[in-house]
Amino acid sequence: MKIIENVQEMQQLCLDARQNRERIAFVPTMGYLHEGHLSLVRAARQQGDRVVLSIFVNPTQFGVGEDFDRYPRDLTRDAQMAEAEGADWIFAPRASDMYPQGYATFVDVEGLTETLCGRSRPGHFRGVTTVVAKLFAIVQPHVAYFGNKDFQQLAVIRRMTTDLNFPVDVRGLPIVREEDGLAMSSRNVNLSAEQRQQALSLYTSIELAQRMVREGETRSATLIDAIRSRIEQEPDAQIDYVQICDQDSLQDVEEVDARSVLLLAVKIGDTRLIDNHHFAST
Ligand code: PAJ
Repeated sequence: MKIIENVQEMQQLCLDARQNRERIAFVPTMGYLHEGHLSLVRAARQQGDRVVLSIFVNPTQFGVGEDFDRYPRDLTRDAQMAEAEGADWIFAPRASDMYPQGYATFVDVEGLTETLCGRSRPGHFRGVTTVVAKLFAIVQPHVAYFGNKDFQQLAVIRRMTTDLNFPVDVRGLPIVREEDGLAMSSRNVNLSAEQRQQALSLYTSIELAQRMVREGETRSATLIDAIRSRIEQEPDAQIDYVQICDQDSLQDVEEVDARSVLLLAVKIGDTRLIDNHHFAST
């Protein structure tokens, strides 16, 4: 496995691979890898001749006062994990090479980014779509893998890929959870033992909503009230949003059906966590 820092070198390697008719499967990440990321690498390994994993803590998607500086980083550990899963190339560029002096181009998806995380993190998705567009241009993947964990992010990236005619097959894979149900996240290492317990309320409230739906409840307002009450039992939990939305438009729905998704964002102390559940699988 090779680690590439240089943008031009990465682009040239990928150009050459394409010319050799290799299928490039790409997994973009911010590193500090866990089983959620590795599930994407495994899927890429099955589909691609060349598996490229990017590790880049992208400064443009963090707002002022967010956790850019505190975001966990460990390239040595990540490289070992990626190699064990059969990744071929790790692309780990420097921020100053991705955004050199004079950089002035941004990608902005309208509509889908105005709700949910977009409302509480202004500019976040602009940073995400900008870096993913750049990564697509550098790596030129045939197929790219993303997690359903970041449900809105995936919807926004699909929109961008369609709208900008990127010839990339964007695939979404299921949320990988810890044994007790907490969705895996690089940010989980920032939780104290006490907060780790409280963080489980995101998942237990999803389970509660699933139970209520199985028992016949379909009113979003009733489900959301129950979820909020469950989470508010935790002393360090601060709810950002609990919403039930249409899977495609991400607009709130009043009644749950098989197209509905429950989306949550909750701060536990200083750590912002998100989770979601698609009701088609209830
Ligand atoms: P990051 O948070 O590192 O996540 C990289 C990819 O792993 C994303 O597609 C995310 O949805 C997926 N992922 C994270 N946790 C997961 C879990 N528990 N189960 C399944 N998939 C999971 O998302 C980003 O980085 C960045 O915004 C990025 C797209 C790389 C742009 O900078």
